[in-house]
Amino acid sequence: MAASLKGRSFLTLFEYTPAEIEHLLDLAAKLKAMKKAGEKHHYCKDKNIALIFEKTSTRTRCAFEVAAADLGMHSTYLDPKASQIGKKESIRDTARVLGSMYDGIEYRGFEQEIVEELAAYAGVPVWNGLTNEFHPTQVLADLLTIREHFGSLKDRHLVFLGDARYNMANSLMVGCAKMGMHFTACAPEAYFPNEELVERCQNIAKRTGAILEFKTNPMEAVKNADVLYTDVWVSMGEPDEVWEERIRELSPYRVTMDVMRGAADNAIFLHCLPAFHNLDTGIGKEIYKKFGIKEMEVTDEVFKKYEASIFDEAENRMHTIKAVMAATLKDDWGI
Ligand code: CP
Ligand code: NVA
Repeated sequence: MAASLKGRSFLTLFEYTPAEIEHLLDLAAKLKAMKKAGEKHHYCKDKNIALIFEKTSTRTRCAFEVAAADLGMHSTYLDPKASQIGKKESIRDTARVLGSMYDGIEYRGFEQEIVEELAAYAGVPVWNGLTNEFHPTQVLADLLTIREHFGSLKDRHLVFLGDARYNMANSLMVGCAKMGMHFTACAPEAYFPNEELVERCQNIAKRTGAILEFKTNPMEAVKNADVLYTDVWVSMGEPDEVWEERIRELSPYRVTMDVMRGAADNAIFLHCLPAFHNLDTGIGKEIYKKFGIKEMEVTDEVFKKYEASIFDEAENRMHTIKAVMAATLKDDWGI
């Protein structure tokens, strides 16, 4: 059994050892099995958590709320308009107030420094529900999905296609480095992750046997890959003006059936979601009117063919977030 994680925040995967990450995945698998079997697991009965969302969310908010209820906890949802955060009250003061009332705090918002500051002053565990730089609870769900599908993580090859400078590719690179996997970022060079982050991950890779690569040619990058992964081309909080440039520069990195056929025969496709794969969204329709494209980072054909893995991944957000909260709020109760 891994050492207790009680009292720890979950801000990036950098602060967690490979054994601790594996432990969280084992715990998530156990909690998932209990949920499916209808077994109650009120391990954090009567604790209270605050959920701060400065950006919108479907999966992350619902995953935290359902996981909290399943663990016997109460949650308070704070959207930026309904609280004083940032505008009338500093993060530091907010941290001290919420930390005196709640047992744990989730934060989704902008710069990573904000969630770091919250964690430094709250005195209770803080969980990163997405910042511009990192999305670690998403990667935990991705790792669980890959492990469920292939049986193990070591040496599995994951290729990320698209904007590899943002939260998703950054966090996947950290996760793959930690778990001894093979990670390839495939994008135009200007969209590669920043050098300092790459260097930190390469240092981890030296110890875990991970391979980290950066390529510009999709067909070359995906050869024999086990998992192809993509994310939206314009992330929350970015200005609308960047769409034109992103569509022009990232269209060659769209995940199509040809790209999928270039990967291993049993490869799967994953996407953190939400995805622009058809015209059934408001933004999808606007982009079609303006630029004439019906699909963006992934084609509808790929999305439909691989929907089993994509929706398993979405469901796993709840089980993995539950594991993070249970492990950091309570002494390890053993699995
Ligand atoms: N993948 C993810 O974080 O989804 P939401 O933005 O809906 O929370
Ligand atoms: N890169 C995306 C991820 C959404 C889950 C964003 O930040 O909007």
